[in-house]
Amino acid sequence: MLLVLGRRVSLSFVKRVIPQDPVLLSKPILQNFRTIKFRVIHSSTVFAIATRQNTDTMPERRPFVRLPTDVYPVNYGLCLKPDLIDFTFEGKLEAIVEVNLATNQIVMNCADIDIITASFVPEGGEGEGEILLAFFSYSLEINATGFNYQNEDEKVTLSFPSALQKGSGTLKIDFVGELNDKMKGFYRSKYATPAGEIRYAAVTQFEATDARRAFPCWDEPAIKATFDISLIVPKDRVALSNMNVIDRKPHPEDDSLLEVKFATTPIMSTYLVAFVIGEYDFVEGQSSDGVTVRVYTPTGKAEQGKFALEVAVKTLPFYNDYFNVPYPLPKIDLIAIADFAAGAMENWGLVTYRETALLIDPKNSCSSSRQWVALVVGHELAHQWFGNLVTMEWWTHLWLNEGFASWIEYLCVDHCFPDYDIWTQFVSADYTRALDLDALDNSHPIEVNVGHPSEVDEIFDAISYSKGASVIRMLHNYIGDEDFRKGMHSYLLKFQHKNAATEDLWDCLEQASGKPIALVMSSWTKQMGFPIIVVDQEQQGDDRILKISQKKFCASGPHNGEDCPKWMVPISICTGEDPGCTKLKVLLDSPETTITINNVSPDQWVKINPGTVGFYRIQYSSAMLESLLPGIRDLTLLPVDRLGLQNDLFSLSRAGMISTVEVLKLMEAFVNEPNYTVWSDLSCNLGVLSSLLSHTDFHEEIQEFIRDLFTPIGLKLGWECKQGEGHLDALLRGLVLGKLGKAGHKPTLEEARRRFKDHVEGKQILSADLRSPVYLTVLKHGDSATLDTMLKLHKQADMQEEKNRIERVLGAISAPDLIQKVLTFALSEDVRPQDTVSVIGGVAGSSKHGRKAAWKFVKDNWEELHNRYQGGFLISRLIKLSVDGFAIDKMAAEVKSFFESHHAPAAERTVQQCCENILLNAAWLKRDADDIHQYLLKRKAPPV
Ligand code: BES
Ligand code: ZN
Repeated sequence: MLLVLGRRVSLSFVKRVIPQDPVLLSKPILQNFRTIKFRVIHSSTVFAIATRQNTDTMPERRPFVRLPTDVYPVNYGLCLKPDLIDFTFEGKLEAIVEVNLATNQIVMNCADIDIITASFVPEGGEGEGEILLAFFSYSLEINATGFNYQNEDEKVTLSFPSALQKGSGTLKIDFVGELNDKMKGFYRSKYATPAGEIRYAAVTQFEATDARRAFPCWDEPAIKATFDISLIVPKDRVALSNMNVIDRKPHPEDDSLLEVKFATTPIMSTYLVAFVIGEYDFVEGQSSDGVTVRVYTPTGKAEQGKFALEVAVKTLPFYNDYFNVPYPLPKIDLIAIADFAAGAMENWGLVTYRETALLIDPKNSCSSSRQWVALVVGHELAHQWFGNLVTMEWWTHLWLNEGFASWIEYLCVDHCFPDYDIWTQFVSADYTRALDLDALDNSHPIEVNVGHPSEVDEIFDAISYSKGASVIRMLHNYIGDEDFRKGMHSYLLKFQHKNAATEDLWDCLEQASGKPIALVMSSWTKQMGFPIIVVDQEQQGDDRILKISQKKFCASGPHNGEDCPKWMVPISICTGEDPGCTKLKVLLDSPETTITINNVSPDQWVKINPGTVGFYRIQYSSAMLESLLPGIRDLTLLPVDRLGLQNDLFSLSRAGMISTVEVLKLMEAFVNEPNYTVWSDLSCNLGVLSSLLSHTDFHEEIQEFIRDLFTPIGLKLGWECKQGEGHLDALLRGLVLGKLGKAGHKPTLEEARRRFKDHVEGKQILSADLRSPVYLTVLKHGDSATLDTMLKLHKQADMQEEKNRIERVLGAISAPDLIQKVLTFALSEDVRPQDTVSVIGGVAGSSKHGRKAAWKFVKDNWEELHNRYQGGFLISRLIKLSVDGFAIDKMAAEVKSFFESHHAPAAERTVQQCCENILLNAAWLKRDADDIHQYLLKRKAPPV
């Protein structure tokens, strides 16, 4: 299993893949796999919420100070000349700055850059003699006499021999740097031309704190300025930046070069600056609101940009209308970059993507890729307003950017593709993922103090993204769409071209809705975790009386200490009479309350949280739960609520609050389930269980359970796509066949082998949607010849999507020597650096042996891996994927001790979460393994 307890792989920046089902592509990056815990102290806050955290286990804070503001930039005139052969660049900065306070020092951010010269010219201090000495040209240029690099802090202090006086001036800096291969700052990205020649592009990735690697700057989100960018590039290369080109002329000293000048940007933060120099084709469109949209692809693949173009052209007017604020730039480019650490990056006017997050080939792309591209385009375009136009004041408010974009990407995809039923998928992808991570003692509040860059890197996680998106969804539901939009509009208008903090958004939404938004929302964003709502009922005449209470939910069971935190919980209630309709809404603002629902007959069920919108788990009394179960079988409960109920119970079983056997029984009630997302969530949880039970000697019995559960739906779907089927049918077929194949269902295995053979021999090419399940199935039960064939397919594949598809399932191979071969392959030249993580993760998540082998491989190759990602977020992902599935206490100690001597500053919290998860797994296994075993045996025993 790719990972125990895991929900998705890829981080980001990869697609989200559900680890134990390499077949399923789901969200990228930000995976959070469920983990374990040692109970430490809980934050104890009532509504005067303090941002208290687990001080025992929190990473030690590095000393950090923000830049002084005595000198700040107004405009950056920046010219860069990359050398695509030597991998270096030369830069010239002429920044108009404002000196607030006379000083003889300027402190800026700067990393991995060598400053050659620096000087300061006060305004009016350069010219030809009108003011001072007639007939003499003069200059008051003050040369800096020292560049003091504070490497640890990524800063440089420029010292001047005399004070720079209050007022405007121009800071001139000449510098050189390396086009690095670390996928951050100004870096090189390798690609092959259609003729197979290897070449390099020069591209940027500045968020969060890497603009300072491309040019000395004030690299903080609140220090906004305008930018005039010029690039000096080989004349046969495409040169792009945030704005449109305003001038293109031959370089005076070298006619093989062009100087390309771009229009002045609006005032913006450094992390949103971008430039790309390389060889690309493009497709172009125009949005109905007049913006020129281009999708840039590798040369010869312009067609593959069409799908994203269609989505982007629909999305811009959608946001324009939703926010009632126009997109402020004349153009937007979306470009696929070969080597790219994240999934995509929202640079203003020049959005960069992994190839797999942008390119769609009508024949060779599967349905989940289409969906992924639509979500990523929707996400990054939302940032053009929410993040770029209005920017967080500091990284503490990163969640505003990422949580909001991760919510509205669904709204946008729902608008463009209503048949995707994408909101149900939100629950299985983001909502449950956030609940899982946030139940750990080593979670963190949404709003978290961060300073040093490694602390900033660390919060690009499922709390900022998925919990952020989930609490915004809950808030939207609490306020209602109309007032929510009103509030968003006034927020964007009030803070456009400026910065804002979380409270600023609450103020605007409060004004628009008249509801106590700040009070309600602070309980969700300033303290970590979430409640479990305990519900019981009583019938009194025609009324139903509900007793409701809240406690903090922890992955090891509910909080039972004195100072249990509390939340302001919007609670909706529905009844069997109309399962889709909220009958009553209350705001639970105390530890417990009693609610009366009028006119509910005794035979009607009552359910909390219809639509699974509130960010909490629910524990029903046995009688209430019993009354809801028929709604699963007869499908009268909404799909999202069937899913939510199952997911809550699964989570309760891991926390030891109910027996896992109860959940297995519940799962059997899903045998007639038709909904893709419900199956997907169930399958994910079964994957977690299967991974857990791979530590036992009855792993085969759970495979049998899986086969039995999935066989009827597998038979119903068959292998061939039928007339009238849609997107979700294709996803469901892939999911079910992959699950059956992996679990060793003989007919599925035989058919997969037959189809694979035809595919390889070129007799009958597999449809894109069937490739992952077939590859997975044949590899899982394959030998060295199967692996070789798969590696050959990998080499031949032209599309990165196909390469990734293969890379993610390679780890399914069973034989130890072949597992080793896959691990070696992960670090080879054949795998793009950003994809190594998912190959190793695939090995760790596929089997007991794979888990051990992957962890050993990570330890043995630590230096190379750490160096490769320079401590960025990919290293956290790698760690999580590699160790989260262990279920033995001593492994938690081993992991902890390894990272004590092998530092990964941006992954400190991840390591703690993984150790917590390992201990939780171990406790779960000890507690329930015997009962599960007995149940699985009894299930098959002939009746006596
Ligand atoms: N702003 C991020 C990109 C980013 C991520 C920069 C991590 C630095 C560190 C971008 O908007 C983003 O969130 N991208 C996601 C895709 C999205 C659809 C969830 C990604 O890269 O996974
Ligand atoms: Zn984002």
